[in-house]
Amino acid sequence: MPTLRWIGKEAVVNHHHTVPFHLLKDVQELSVGDPGSGNLIVEGDNLLALKALLPYYAGQVKCIYIDPPYNTGNEGWAYNDNVNSPVMKEWLGQVVGKEGETLDRHDRWLCMMYPRLALLRKFLREDGAIFVSIDDNEVQNLRAIMDDIYGKKNFVAQFVWNTEGHTDNQFHIKVNHEYLVMYATKETTLKLGFVVDPNTREGSNLWAGYAENSITKNGPGNPASEITLPIGFPTETEELQLPETNVPAGLIEAMNEKRHTSNQLKAQFGRVQFPLRFDSMEARNKHLINKCRVYSGWANANKLRNFIDAGCVPIADDDGMQIRFFISSKGVIYYRKDRGDQARNILSVLRNLGTTEKMRAELESMGIKFQYPKPKELLRHIVRVGSDEGDLVMDSFAGSGTTAHAAIELNSSSKIQRRFILIQMPWENDEQRTKDKNLTRDITAERIKRVAQGYTNLKGEVVAGLGGGFRYCRLSEPLFDEKGKIRESVKFAELARHVYFTETGEPLPKERVPNTPLIGIHHGVGVYLLYNGILKDKTTNGGNVLTSKVLVELPEHEGPKVVYGTACRLGAARLRREGIVFKQLPYRLRIDAP
Ligand SMILES: C[S@@+](CC[C@H](N)C(=O)[O-])C[C@H]1O[C@@H](n2cnc3c(N)ncnc32)[C@H](O)[C@@H]1O
Repeated sequence: MPTLRWIGKEAVVNHHHTVPFHLLKDVQELSVGDPGSGNLIVEGDNLLALKALLPYYAGQVKCIYIDPPYNTGNEGWAYNDNVNSPVMKEWLGQVVGKEGETLDRHDRWLCMMYPRLALLRKFLREDGAIFVSIDDNEVQNLRAIMDDIYGKKNFVAQFVWNTEGHTDNQFHIKVNHEYLVMYATKETTLKLGFVVDPNTREGSNLWAGYAENSITKNGPGNPASEITLPIGFPTETEELQLPETNVPAGLIEAMNEKRHTSNQLKAQFGRVQFPLRFDSMEARNKHLINKCRVYSGWANANKLRNFIDAGCVPIADDDGMQIRFFISSKGVIYYRKDRGDQARNILSVLRNLGTTEKMRAELESMGIKFQYPKPKELLRHIVRVGSDEGDLVMDSFAGSGTTAHAAIELNSSSKIQRRFILIQMPWENDEQRTKDKNLTRDITAERIKRVAQGYTNLKGEVVAGLGGGFRYCRLSEPLFDEKGKIRESVKFAELARHVYFTETGEPLPKERVPNTPLIGIHHGVGVYLLYNGILKDKTTNGGNVLTSKVLVELPEHEGPKVVYGTACRLGAARLRREGIVFKQLPYRLRIDAP
């Protein structure tokens, strides 16, 4: 498979493994509404923030949307990635080229994106997907690294978004589109949401909540067969009276040939109405009153037979939806699937989904100034394509927070709430930093607060809140100090999450970490942590060392155990007898980190 090479690639492909784990600290005064809403806004560089969130949310996110810098050459995107290899250092000091195409600009962009996309993949559920907004500047490079990280076979779509905005640029061909590149965790297990594209033809069955199709289908893939429609088979009309078909000579023989097509049949025999009726077809009160043998190639013959066997009542399709069959006024057999609100029609060209200009104006009227927000209509659509009610949605280049705005709007008419995680760095450049501006606090969180709690717009009108809230967090210190030791300030609950995640690759399933050394059980293995005097022994290393005395005090667990602690005084034979694998802190936490 062709792969992309660029300067610095070697330095970044595994960089996400070495990004230090940081702790997260709640900022209560910036949090809004119910702290248990499950929504989170994290202030900080997304590389560090994503790493910090892994022990909490790995494998939990259904839909990731990101809108990273497009690398147009005009934007001063921040790059504060602390990569230490000499190759990286060489151009970390350089300013991103503003004029024309320079190799450095693309190299740097790829180096910025690669570890972030690699970390994001770890958050996705088995049935999840990531959507990345991008334009012509980097789309081909993005596709290449997405193929690398997510796998070519997990590519789902490259949506074209008709931006419908200003096209008064200087190019001969005015560019009025961007892309949204979509990859699944696994294409085979991807679950798409139920959403009907707003451009779906008016009057389409999809809007009415059902799909309907004729099941007669003649061709090499649909061998013809005879089916007997029983008395009581449903019809569309109250009454029906159709004679048996006058079958042209040679037609049945031609249909029995393996390679016939409908066009050949038509050319040879003229227009014939399928299915052929071997008996007359008569109905009263919307049901057949005689048996009728019909003959055709079929699109859903087995389902039709199941329907007949079930007594001509609706049956469940493979996806759990109800399907039924009926005969039309012309004697054609139709298949109808009732979808309720579960209709789906996802188109690859996205139109009529708002504009950046309109979104910017709406934000301005909310008192929020942000240059290039994505329209919330676009995000509402994408969030619905990628997730269902109750799912977790993430945006790690949150900007003004449109993804959360869209989720809250969807929640206002949902039974079960979607939850969101936003990550946004506080400063886009050093100038903002010196002016005590904070984009995450003043733009991202402030917008979501106003959407949730209501606000008075610039015209003086009161706009009601849609409900919801979020926890606001900042990145705190790294887990390990400069000497590689666990920082003294790290609490038992914080370390327990890291230990459990390192051991199992999954977040600790509990909201609250138990106040005992047995922090969780994973596939029958008890995971223990001896730290911070959890056994109430406050002496140096007291209770953090696995001794015979400590072993007696450990909460019981039938089955194998993994014990993390500072040291172990039990011999190898004893550990084997007790079914214990001992892992030394902090060493094993550092080298085994996923
Ligand atoms: C194009 S904007 C996203 C706009 C967003 N979709 C909206 O509708 O408002 C990209 C955002 O990503 C942020 N960003 C860039 N690099 C980042 C990083 N390393 N960590 C966190 N945020 C970052 C930028 O500050 C910027 O606000």
